[in-house]
Amino acid sequence: MGTSSPPVVEIRNMSQHIDQEVTVEGWLYNKRESGKILFPIFRDGTGLMQGVVVKSAVPPELFEKARELTQESSLRVTGKVRAEPRAPGGFELGVTGLEVIQLIPADQPYPITPKEHGIEFLMDHRHLWLRSSHQRAILGVRHQIIRACRDFFDDRGFVLVDTPILTPSACEGTTTLFEVDYFGQKAYLAQSGQLYNEAAAMSVGKTYCFGPTFRAEKSKTRRHLMEFWMIEPEVAFAELDDVMQLAEGLVSSVVARVLEKCRPELGTLGRDVSKLERCMPPFPRISYDEAIKILKEKGSEIEWGGDFGGTDETLLAENFDRPVMVHRYPSQVKAFYMKPDPKRPELALCVDVLAPEGYGEIIGGSERLADYDLLVKRMEESKLPREAFEWYLDLRRYGSVPHGGFGMGIERVVAWVCGLEHVRETIPFPRMLYRLTP
Ligand code: 4AD
Ligand code: MG
Repeated sequence: MGTSSPPVVEIRNMSQHIDQEVTVEGWLYNKRESGKILFPIFRDGTGLMQGVVVKSAVPPELFEKARELTQESSLRVTGKVRAEPRAPGGFELGVTGLEVIQLIPADQPYPITPKEHGIEFLMDHRHLWLRSSHQRAILGVRHQIIRACRDFFDDRGFVLVDTPILTPSACEGTTTLFEVDYFGQKAYLAQSGQLYNEAAAMSVGKTYCFGPTFRAEKSKTRRHLMEFWMIEPEVAFAELDDVMQLAEGLVSSVVARVLEKCRPELGTLGRDVSKLERCMPPFPRISYDEAIKILKEKGSEIEWGGDFGGTDETLLAENFDRPVMVHRYPSQVKAFYMKPDPKRPELALCVDVLAPEGYGEIIGGSERLADYDLLVKRMEESKLPREAFEWYLDLRRYGSVPHGGFGMGIERVVAWVCGLEHVRETIPFPRMLYRLTP
């Protein structure tokens, strides 16, 4: 298009351009035809906008070009913006010019049509599926959730310290490690940045890391991914209560941010926002003992000492209208690095935050075992290779202090906040038990 073409305007900003000539750069989303009028719907990544092409009002070539447009053909379209309450988004474009960048041939159409497709088909075409309104909305919410997390910690003086992905040892148990050949030596993809976070906290006081983490978990549930993103704060001199308060603050500020910034996305997803609006502090805090009592009353088979399964978490969360914090699980079901409760050493000073509406655990955290001798004992019980952890023990040899932190899985939070059935739609390209492509 020549230099005289109208300015490019994002669809989300159309309300500021009523009665002006604009250019939209994007794709054809869908098309309706009604006699001698065409209603192409355009998308540009920021929204949807309906165009109107009236046969009697435009040159015949333009009408023909618009009529031939196929779904997802790329284009630049110009026209005048009009307020139109019946159109999606509230505006429409009276089309006066159209430059087709790539016309998808009608006999080799875009694979994802507006009709229903099976989930396997959609997953195989994930690289294209991302363009749909729902997926676009989820990407937008995910982005705001990540921003909110970073802002939360940045505003409170935390220093972001990146932790390695290639690591020499396990953090969360040896059964879920992805092994990598590191020049003839065994290495593993990080399950968590926590152990390195603890080193960083002793340097900067308050730290967080945010990166991809990996679990070779042979589980095929709606809550498990092999690769997921975790945000993990770690704080020197923090005890369990401080950890809980931080977790509550983070979760509620993430929800508040989404409610503030993502109304259109939540609308597209059909999310019941009243359920999110209730997620304000204080969150209920219950002990593992109390949780077991509730579960038994509700008919669960669980016995004291066992870890909660997905169903138990759902049952438990039903009792609350906002996230619930369950603290002091038996040490035997938790990681080696958690501090035992001095009053009841069979319990760990840990907390899991369970999301409401059946979304289960979104946060796991604890006060750490800061005592050298006790930590060595716990490592021996867990049969961890001592050499690989010598550096970690140094943190207990040189100026050890009480400290704690947690990890929050971004995908579980996105699934909950968006009201999705499965975490597979919360990450652009999910890695699951039977899926490594695209
Ligand atoms: O409870 P987890 O295993 O805790 C840790 O890794 C600690 N080292 C974190 C810390 O204290 N710094 O995992 C933390 C969170 C879970 O609550 C869950 O939200 C998410 O990470 N998560 C997963 N998300 C998706 N798929 C999986 N397979 C996940 N495993 C854990
Ligand atoms: Mg956990």
